Amino acid sequence: MSEAAKLSVNGKEIELPILVGTENEVGLDISKLRASTGCITLDEGYVNTGSTASAITFLDGEEGVLRYRGYPIEQLAEHADFIEIAHLLMHGELPTQTQLTEMQSTMRFERTIPPAIVKLIASFPQQAHPMAIVMAAVAGLSAHHLERIDPADPKQVAEASARLLAEMPTIAAYAYRRTTGQDFVEPTKDLDYCRNFLHMMFSQPDKPLEIADELAEALDMLLIVHADHEQNCSTSTVRMVGSSDANLYASISAGVAALWGPLHGGANEACVNMLEMIHADGGDVAKYVEMARKKENNFRLMGFGHRVYKSYDPRAKIVEAACKKVLAKLKIEDPIFPIAQELERVAVTDQYFIDRNLYPNVDFYSGVLYRAMGIPSNMFTVLFAMGRLPGWLAHWIEMRTSPEKRICRPRQIYTGETERNFVPIEKRS
Ligand code: SDX
Repeated sequence: MSEAAKLSVNGKEIELPILVGTENEVGLDISKLRASTGCITLDEGYVNTGSTASAITFLDGEEGVLRYRGYPIEQLAEHADFIEIAHLLMHGELPTQTQLTEMQSTMRFERTIPPAIVKLIASFPQQAHPMAIVMAAVAGLSAHHLERIDPADPKQVAEASARLLAEMPTIAAYAYRRTTGQDFVEPTKDLDYCRNFLHMMFSQPDKPLEIADELAEALDMLLIVHADHEQNCSTSTVRMVGSSDANLYASISAGVAALWGPLHGGANEACVNMLEMIHADGGDVAKYVEMARKKENNFRLMGFGHRVYKSYDPRAKIVEAACKKVLAKLKIEDPIFPIAQELERVAVTDQYFIDRNLYPNVDFYSGVLYRAMGIPSNMFTVLFAMGRLPGWLAHWIEMRTSPEKRICRPRQIYTGETERNFVPIEKRS
């Protein structure tokens, strides 16, 4: 590989240094482009543009590879638990038993959220979308915790990250209880991360919650496969907001906002709504694949397609396998699961989908498992946010401690009116 690419533009000949990553990805460094040619690049949606170099997660979209800090997602989903993954993403290594025990016990004591945030959640109308509540509650934490943590102080970062990881399930469960008109159930130190969340979601005063191990383990796996995904829309948003030195809670709240969109994290809710519609319409999946082929229908198969994966999303494979195991073990019959499997079978053999490399993504099957846990579809993206939190934290820390850090401020090509003079109102038509 040569050291530089040559560019001839605007009557100038320049060299663009070539950067090669540890997985042999090749990037052209254009940081001097404008100064040396007067030109900028343009790339709507950043399809071809890298925003940074990062050591956290590696994706190979052609091969369907996903690794957190070098570990394949398949191994992590099978052998690790979510808190181990949070440590791995944020600190770069799987924790020792001592580190894991310390992180788990710290988090157990941080599950209670400030009373003013409890009041904030209770102040939302019952018909609010839970993501609106989560976004506001996370931003509100900046008024209660040390707002300005020093990103270079590992102790402050570890404490603030562990506390926010511990508080997020409480915020999520309280958002659910508010929007279902139920009293809040306090977190308990006696249960692990996932069981405490399910306890706060579903315990009733008169009925102690029976939590099937299979569901608690499935939830842990879902959080792991959602934990990070390099420079996706919401993570890039966290980095963008954090690049102005905005505080941790403002940055994470912005990530929640970006994740809410149905083209991103909101797709899991949209996908289940689509599968329910197909079920109600007699289960004719071919009709909906046909609809998705025609642009004029303005209809997409939610849970399908991906900016990076041009082959099967490895997370979708893991989640589908878990659906089969958990539904069979718990003898749960969910009509939308076979519809999803049939929809996948028909779509991936359809030329439109083959030509565009469209396959199921992480959002296609996850809703089936959430439903098996009794979680309503308007909470699916909240669960995605809970899972993605360690990834957001890891990227915020990496960005804020990078010696290359600069405020993110993209350029543009102006296409509006050229200079013109003011027109007094009486002369306007
Ligand atoms: C997530 O970035 C990440 O890593 C995200 C994520 C993460 O972990 O953070 O993986 C999580 O957000 C997964 C994606 C969830 N979204 C959906 O499932 C919504 C449905 N999918 C899409 O709208 C779409 O596939 C995107 C948004 C995921 C990707 O959009 P791109 O890369 O901008 O692709 P595009 O919209 O330019 O589509 C390319 C072509 C188009 O057709 P042509 O104009 O070339 O003829 O594929 C078509 C699109 O119309 N297409 C689809 C389709 N997705 C793309 N057609 C039908 N159904 C679909 N789902």
